[in-house]
Amino acid sequence: MTSNSLNIKNSIEKDVLEWFLDNGIDEILAHEPVNKTSAVAPPLSAPSPVSPPSSSHEPLMGTAQALIEARALAKQAQTLEDLQKTIADFNGLPVKKTAMNMVFCDGNPKADVMVIGEAPGADEDRQGKPFVGASGQLLDVILKRIGLTRSAQNSHEATYISNILNWRPPGNRTPTPDEMKIALPFIERHIQLVSPKILVLVGNTPMKTLLNTKEGIKKMRGKWHTYQTITPDFGTLDHEIFALPTFHPAFLLRNPYEKKTVWQDMILLQEKRKDLGLLS
Ligand code: URA
Repeated sequence: MTSNSLNIKNSIEKDVLEWFLDNGIDEILAHEPVNKTSAVAPPLSAPSPVSPPSSSHEPLMGTAQALIEARALAKQAQTLEDLQKTIADFNGLPVKKTAMNMVFCDGNPKADVMVIGEAPGADEDRQGKPFVGASGQLLDVILKRIGLTRSAQNSHEATYISNILNWRPPGNRTPTPDEMKIALPFIERHIQLVSPKILVLVGNTPMKTLLNTKEGIKKMRGKWHTYQTITPDFGTLDHEIFALPTFHPAFLLRNPYEKKTVWQDMILLQEKRKDLGLLS
């Protein structure tokens, strides 16, 4: 290839990459491109490959082994800094490999109210902080209406925020059941170390994971539940932690008429803070 044709090729590739980025395509989900406009439809029942390709979210060390390690490592963490480093070093969750940054927490760890979401999205992955994109901005507005902010120094007015999964799943897919299982000891240790009075669980993933239920958010929201540690050998909590499931702010962005429902949940939260003497 002449240097002139090489320059033209590079410039076309650069234009194509820029076009991808402009259109929000910022990651590769498969090694080979798939032409979805191809006129040739795949056979209805493709022959099974001799050895099936491993799924991209299969834990490298196997779920059982990853779970054993996650439990042992999480239990050893004595401080939030320990836990953050432990999660950063843990290799049992392959989503770590596709994520840009680990997302551990934001807000005041002394807060009475800890908010737990599902997993970082693209903005959170870029900035290394939970709930900083559009849904995070809506979450902040909702919390501010009841006097809670991430930056408050006073524990009664502060919030602390984290997620079930500390790494962004590729393409923002929902964490798999295996990922939730493996991440559970880390978020449970996180809760133990922060020791909040109240957990606000936004969306199905944190609710199902931490309340150990198969029920959906529509059935579980609007009432109080008691959070109890699920991971074996983690001991008991030194005080009751009240848990309030509510809709995820990303769901509210798609279904704005449900904001009134979340407002009802925020009224419950205010009542609980008042009952517990946490309103300053
Ligand atoms: N959605 C979540 O559940 N968590 C985040 O941090 C961002 C979006």
